Order: sequence, then C-alpha cells, then structure tokens
Amino acid sequence: MRMDPISLYDYEARARQILPHNNWVFIEAGAMDERTTARNRTAFESLTLRPRFLRDTTERKMTTTVLGDGISFPVMISPTDSHLNAHPEAERATARGAGMSGTLMMCSTSSNCSMEEIAEAATGPLWFQLSHRGYDLTENLVKRAEAAGFKAIVLTVDAPFPSPKERDLRNRYERPGEYGNFRPHENPAVAALAADGSPDWEMPQCPPLTWRELDWLRSLTDLPLVLKGIRVAEDARMAVDHGVNAIMVSTHGGRRFDDTMSSIEMVPEIVAATGGRVEVYVDSGVRRGSDVLKALALGATAVSIGRPLYWGLALNGADGVHHVLEILREEFNRAMAYCGQNSVDDLDDGLLNIPRDWGPFRTESDIAAHLQFPA
Ligand SMILES: Cc1cc2nc3c(=O)[nH]c(=O)nc-3n(C[C@H](O)[C@H](O)[C@H](O)COP(=O)(O)O)c2cc1C
Repeated sequence: MRMDPISLYDYEARARQILPHNNWVFIEAGAMDERTTARNRTAFESLTLRPRFLRDTTERKMTTTVLGDGISFPVMISPTDSHLNAHPEAERATARGAGMSGTLMMCSTSSNCSMEEIAEAATGPLWFQLSHRGYDLTENLVKRAEAAGFKAIVLTVDAPFPSPKERDLRNRYERPGEYGNFRPHENPAVAALAADGSPDWEMPQCPPLTWRELDWLRSLTDLPLVLKGIRVAEDARMAVDHGVNAIMVSTHGGRRFDDTMSSIEMVPEIVAATGGRVEVYVDSGVRRGSDVLKALALGATAVSIGRPLYWGLALNGADGVHHVLEILREEFNRAMAYCGQNSVDDLDDGLLNIPRDWGPFRTESDIAAHLQFPA
C-alpha cells in the first residue's frame, strides 16, 4: 500500500507524477540556467544548527503577527499565479487551505480567480500582490483590494522586464484559464489591455516602476505596503525611507533572473540595513521546518512558500495545501524543541553556524563602513 506523503519532497515527487508535463515544468522551472533556483536550496543546506539541550521546552509558542495580522505559525503563502495549473478550484482552494492552517495568503495580480472570489472563499487574512502595469490599472486594483478586505499590498519590484523561462518556451507552455482580475465587464480599467482582456505581462515594454511610482502608491492607500524582491542594503534602506512597512526578501524562486545570491543569504544584510524599523520576511527555497527556524534566527519575522502550495493543490486541493503547511508546522515545532527554544520571539543567530563566505554585510556597522547613504 502506498504511504501518504510525509515531507514536502514527497509532495513534489507525487505532483510531478500526476500533473500534465507542461504545467509541472511551469511551476518548477527557474530562469536561464536555474542556478539561483538551485542556490535557494543549497544556501539553506549550508546553514547548520547549533542545538541546545537540557532545557524545558514542553511549551512552545509558534504564533506570531505579520503587520498586525495574527498567524498560527510563521509560514505564509507567497503570491503565485494560475493555480488552475494544479487544481480546478484554483486560488479558492489555496485560500481555504491557508485558512485551515490559520495562516495568511498573498494573492497574485495574475490569479485565475478574481480577488473578490478569493476573498469570498478565504477564512484567513489575505494580502494583495500588485504587479504595476500603469497608474490606471494599479489604482483600480488597489481600490478593489481595499474594498474586498485585503489587509496589505505586496508590491513586486523584481520583475522589471519580461523573462519567459526557457523550458516553458521549449514546451510552448500555454497558461490555463483567464486572468480573474481583468474580466472586462468587472474592470473598467482593462481598456488598456490586450484584446482578450489579459494584462499582456510578456509584452516587450513594462511601464516603469520606480521610487516615484512607489511614492504615488504610498499616497494612494493607507493599507500597509510590503516590497517583494528587495535584495540589497541600499534598496532596503531607501524602501524604509519611502515609508514601506515590510520587506519580503525574495528571488522570485529564481524564476525571473539568474546568478544572484539566494534569498536566505541576503537576509542578514537586509535585517542589518533596516535595523528593526520594518518587518522582514523571506521566501524562495523554504522546504523544511528547520528552514523556518534558520530564517527566524537570522531576523526574519516569517517565511513564505511558493511551489509547495501547488504540490499540495495537485494532490488534494485545499486539504493538500493544508497538509503541506501542517508538515512544515510539525517540523518547525520539532526543530524548536531540538534547539532548546520556547518561543518564536526569542530566536537569534546564536542558533546557527553561518558560512564565512556569505555576503559582506552582516551588521549595521558593516553597512555603515562600506556603503554611503544620502543624509
Ligand atoms: C508558478 C509560480 C508563479 C508565480 N507567480 C508570481 C506572481 O504572480 N507574482 C509574484 O510576485 N511572484 C510570483 N511567484 C514567486 C513567488 O511569489 C515566490 O517568490 C517563490 O515561489 C518562492 O520560492 P519557492 O517556490 O522556492 O518557495 C511565482 C512562483 C511560482 C512558482
């Protein structure tokens, strides 16, 4: 008899067997030579734990808050598009799975379901991921997100230029379903879009997204703003100065641009640059509960997962997403116990051996000594 999946890697292997080939590759692939995608894992693996014993860890606090929203443990769902690739209920099922685990889902601008449909299905908090495609469209999306009860706007900054993945091009991958947020009858701003109502992400020209647009967005909404994809101290410091509330350190799962550092390697630099003034989250390569512990020990408030949610969806819809999250919860709980930790609020880098060749900026004084910021 076949065993139920007991790790995220089991889910990955089963999803690969059951999904149509092109859908599987779309979910799994990274940009170009996929070195950053691979590095997202090897960097987590190169961080080792320093377990502490002879402590009473019978009570462990795993709950936390992200921008004021309570979550049952520090793992969230990253924004990813086209969940129809994995399940007919698409993002509605993902939202239900996240809610069953008491955590938060970020919804992609390019979801198959509209944000209103996802909000109706959700039982947990939702944040809206914004891909800026011009002022009119952005304003329309942000106002709808406010009306639908989304709690924050997550502006993706690390996709300034179209970047189709080579494996998708070879497969002639075609996206399933529609862009739920861009149905012409529901969205008066779609006049500027392609004839089929899709936002034409892969057109050669994306409208510019600069600090100027960020200031405009900041004045457009009172919702908290998260910048997703910030990777270096200079941009992190500017983000704080421009009034953002949190930074999601991310490589987009290595899907857009190759040959950068992994996300987890950049966390010490971003945490040092922001000095506790904003919350820092990290995604890209989180697959084990010990990865959650490592990220929090480096100063992140929470982590987030992308590809694994599709694996859960593919196997068992909302229940599969829920189970993927519960596996991570159990592994994280175990890692806390083995490291002698009672609370997510007390984790620090004394729990880790950090490889010596990780980036040069680990502390605020490293940054002050090497980087110049305008006064
Ligand atoms: C299939 C897929 C679609 C994605 N779509 C989006 C998107 O629409 N917007 C966005 O900001 N990030 C998108 N991402 C990136 C994720 O938000 C996240 O950064 C990444 O998946 C995390 O890495 P992981 O897959 O290794 O967990 C997508 C990722 C995947 C795998």
